Amino acid sequence: MNIIFAIIIGYLIGSISFSYLIAKKIKKVDIRTQGSGNAGATNALRVLGWGPAITILLLDATKGIAAVLISNWVGVDSWIAFLAGLAAIIGHNWPIYYGFRGGKGVATTIGVFAILVFIPALIAGGVAILTIVLTRYVSLGSLIFMALTPILTIVMGDYSTIYIILATLIGVLSLWRHRANVHRLIKGTESKIGQKKEVTS
Ligand code: G3P
Repeated sequence: MNIIFAIIIGYLIGSISFSYLIAKKIKKVDIRTQGSGNAGATNALRVLGWGPAITILLLDATKGIAAVLISNWVGVDSWIAFLAGLAAIIGHNWPIYYGFRGGKGVATTIGVFAILVFIPALIAGGVAILTIVLTRYVSLGSLIFMALTPILTIVMGDYSTIYIILATLIGVLSLWRHRANVHRLIKGTESKIGQKKEVTS
């Protein structure tokens, strides 16, 4: 029973779209019709500016943290807490409250990974931030973070097989969610920090 509760609560928390809510509040727009069309912190930076974007990044990460901590609190196994974190990421990407059109789950994943696979996430996060600073492509940094964290959980040898599987699943899900960004990066049409972008999908 606690297992189902943890996963459902994770999904419902993840479904709260802070970028949608804050863009509605500040600009009275649906963020999914602006910029890249993504309901996330990067697009909030384009549409709303740095302050709201950082606030959204922190709030979206908190959703992942909350999903894991609530699961720990109800006493499920730690890998079920990881599953609840995955449920929060799925909620962020396909939110029940907003027609199942959400974001790409990066900030929420940061929250989940920060609690459950801290050292791999810290190292991957450092490489991702450096990439973003050097290239100004947030999506490239996100892709590196999502690919490198699971790889490090394998390489470090400190994590159980189920942790490695779940971290890999989250990474693969995110790479798939970023497929339009990957195409744009290859074509050289991806927008950099500071550039505006029209809705493409
Ligand atoms: O986390 C989302 C980011 O990696 C890309 O966002 O708006 O450029 O598609 P966006």
